[in-house]
Amino acid sequence: MTPVTIDDYKDKYPDVKADFTVDQRWDQYTDEEHGVWRTLYERQEKLLPGRVAPEFLEGLEVLKLEKSGIPDFRRLSDDLEKLTGWRVVAVPGLVPEDVFFEHLANRRFVAGQFIRTPQQMDYLQEPDIFHDVFGHVPLLANPVFADYMEAYGKGGLRALKFNTIDHLARLYWYTVEFGLIRQPEGMRIYGAGIVSSKGESIFALDDPSPNRIKFDLMRVMRTNYRIDDYQQTYFVIDSFDELFEATVDRDFAPIYRELPTLSEFQPEDVLETDEVITRGTQAYARAKRAKEREPA
Ligand code: PHE
Ligand code: CO
Repeated sequence: MTPVTIDDYKDKYPDVKADFTVDQRWDQYTDEEHGVWRTLYERQEKLLPGRVAPEFLEGLEVLKLEKSGIPDFRRLSDDLEKLTGWRVVAVPGLVPEDVFFEHLANRRFVAGQFIRTPQQMDYLQEPDIFHDVFGHVPLLANPVFADYMEAYGKGGLRALKFNTIDHLARLYWYTVEFGLIRQPEGMRIYGAGIVSSKGESIFALDDPSPNRIKFDLMRVMRTNYRIDDYQQTYFVIDSFDELFEATVDRDFAPIYRELPTLSEFQPEDVLETDEVITRGTQAYARAKRAKEREPA
């Protein structure tokens, strides 16, 4: 994560607090901004049934997440808090790691205050309110996932002391952001980065390009990831309870001592020891790289 300070945000957000939260200024969203939310919501609403874990759809429903426009965090948080104790707080953009973990550890999910422009419907570098709220918040209504996220925040504060944040961040990436789950009905998406993206909601499940590999904690923590394109490998859990048992119920201190001595894996690697569910062709990634090398 790029280093950020309060001063980076002072100009645009004079009310920014020491914990990086700001007022959502819900009254100030324009009709166009609400329209962007509505369009993104409608696209995903059509796509997700049969693709996303039912726990996610249950979350959308119990929270009555607004379709018509950007939700007001006060209303949303009051409802979410009654279910699992979580609240959603607005931040201007990226926040320092310790601040992020501190919020999670206290059951506060930080969400970007801004929404993408109509020109950025399909691609966006920084998480906006649609990714953060539509992508992440529904699963916070699930008790097991809600506990996982709090434990992750506490684990992050601990990892800071071990200097192993980069390893722990991979766990977040390959579960919370880009996780797949194998359920009795079939393979489903649950990671927020997938769920909030039209293209990746299809790619992650249906495309022959990426690998789909059974989740293994050490394997994941040794694997680099790309932030600028669809994933080359997705890691698959069988249940949220499995994820919980592999992480929350485990002391990472011995792992943190061992990790720096171990080699790292690249995003496309498939290992002898992997339980491979689908071996990807990597055709998408290869074509994309070839295109990037073409002279303009
Ligand atoms: N169990 C981890 C530790 O001992 C904390 C953690 C929990 C990390 C959940 C990630 C997810 O540090
Ligand atoms: Co996210």
